[in-house]
Amino acid sequence: MTSTTPPLLSVQGLHVAFPGRRGAADARAVDGVDLDIRRGEIVALVGESGCGKTTLARSLLGLVEPTGGRVTFDGSPLARSGRALKEYRRRAQLVLQDPSGSLNPRHTVYDIVAEGLRIHGHPGDERAAVAEALSRAGLRPPERFFLRYPHELSGGQRQRVVIAGALVLEPELLVADEPVASLDASVRGEILALLLRLRTDLGLAALVVTHDLGLAWNIADRVAVMYLGRIVETGPVEQVLTAPRHPYTQALLSVLPEAPGTPVVLTGEPPDPSFIPSGCRFHVRCQVLAGGAAERAGVADACRHEDPAVLSGGDRAQVACHWARARTEEPAAGTGDGATVRPG
Ligand SMILES: Nc1ncnc2c1ncn2[C@@H]1O[C@H](COP(=O)(O)OP(=O)(O)O)[C@@H](O)[C@H]1O
Ligand code: SF4
Ligand SMILES: [Mg+2]
Repeated sequence: MTSTTPPLLSVQGLHVAFPGRRGAADARAVDGVDLDIRRGEIVALVGESGCGKTTLARSLLGLVEPTGGRVTFDGSPLARSGRALKEYRRRAQLVLQDPSGSLNPRHTVYDIVAEGLRIHGHPGDERAAVAEALSRAGLRPPERFFLRYPHELSGGQRQRVVIAGALVLEPELLVADEPVASLDASVRGEILALLLRLRTDLGLAALVVTHDLGLAWNIADRVAVMYLGRIVETGPVEQVLTAPRHPYTQALLSVLPEAPGTPVVLTGEPPDPSFIPSGCRFHVRCQVLAGGAAERAGVADACRHEDPAVLSGGDRAQVACHWARARTEEPAAGTGDGATVRPG
C-alpha cells in the first residue's frame, strides 16, 4: 500500500472526554488523535494501561461518542445512527478477547457465529457462511464445532470463535482490543499467525490494540504509540521499534526482556486523563528531561510549557517531542492541540 491510496479509515482531531466525578475535571481519554489505516494494513496501537487505547478503538466503531473531531471510513463520515451505522458495523468489526465475556456461555458455537448474520439479515446460506467463517478462523472441520459450547473449547479455540463471529460478516476492518492478552505464549503465536493470514487472504485491515510491544513487532506494519490520549510516536514498525525517538517509546522498549542496556524506570504519577500536564504531557515523567539532555539541547523550557504539535495521520514516521525533533533539526513546532505538523 502506498501513501497515495486513500485510507480505509481516517481519524482527524479526535477527542473523547468523560465527565469528571464529583466536580473533578473531565477525563480527556482521547485528546487530539489523527490516525489513518489503509486497506490491508495492520496498525498496532500500543501504550500503557489507561492511556486511552480502548476508548479510541471503541470510538472508531461508533461505540463511544467522540466529543470532537471526525472519523471517515472509505471516504464517508461515520454515521451516528440508522442504516448507515448498521452497515458500518458490518464492515468494521470489533474483536474482543474472550475472557472479557464476549462469548455467551449458553449459546452453541454455531449460534454465536450466526448471530451477526441474523442481526444483519444475511440473505444467503447461513450454514455455509458459518462453516466458512469457522474454517477461515482455523476451526476445521467446521461442522465438528457447530454444537459445542464455549466451555468445551480451549482458550485459543474460543478466541478463534470470536474471530469467526467477526469474519462471518465479511468485514474490511478488524479492530482487535488486546486479542491475545490472556492466552499462553504458544497459542498467542497461533492467533497472531491467523490475523496475518487473514490480511494476506482477505486483504483485511486491522487495528490491533496492545500494551505489548513484542506483539506489535510480530504482527504490525505500522505502530502508533499512545500516551495520555495522544499518539506521541508513529511510523513503520521496524523503524519505531529499532530506533525509537520518543523518550516514552524508548522507556517502553527498554523494559522488554530482550532489550539491551538498563531498563528505564519511569518516575512520577501514573497517567491520569483528568490531570493532563501542561507543556509536553510526558514531561513530569520524562527521563530525558530529568537527566538533563533536554536542557543541553536547549528545549527544556519548551518541554515544560509547549504542547508538542499533534501528529498527522499518514504512514510516515513522526514524533511529538521537542528534544527528538531538535536532534534531527525538524521544526520544533509547539502549537499543541488541533495543529497538525506534516514533517519532511
Ligand atoms: N466510561 C468511562 N468513564 C470515565 N472514565 C473512563 C471511561 N472509560 C475509560 N475511562 C478512563 O479513560 C482512560 C483511558 O481508558 P482506556 O481507554 O480503557 O485505556 P486503555 O485501553 O489504554 O487501558 C482511563 O483513565 C479510564 O479510567
Ligand atoms: S518533549 Fe521534552 S519532556 Fe516531552 S518527551 Fe520530549 S524530551 Fe521529554
Ligand atoms: Mg484497554
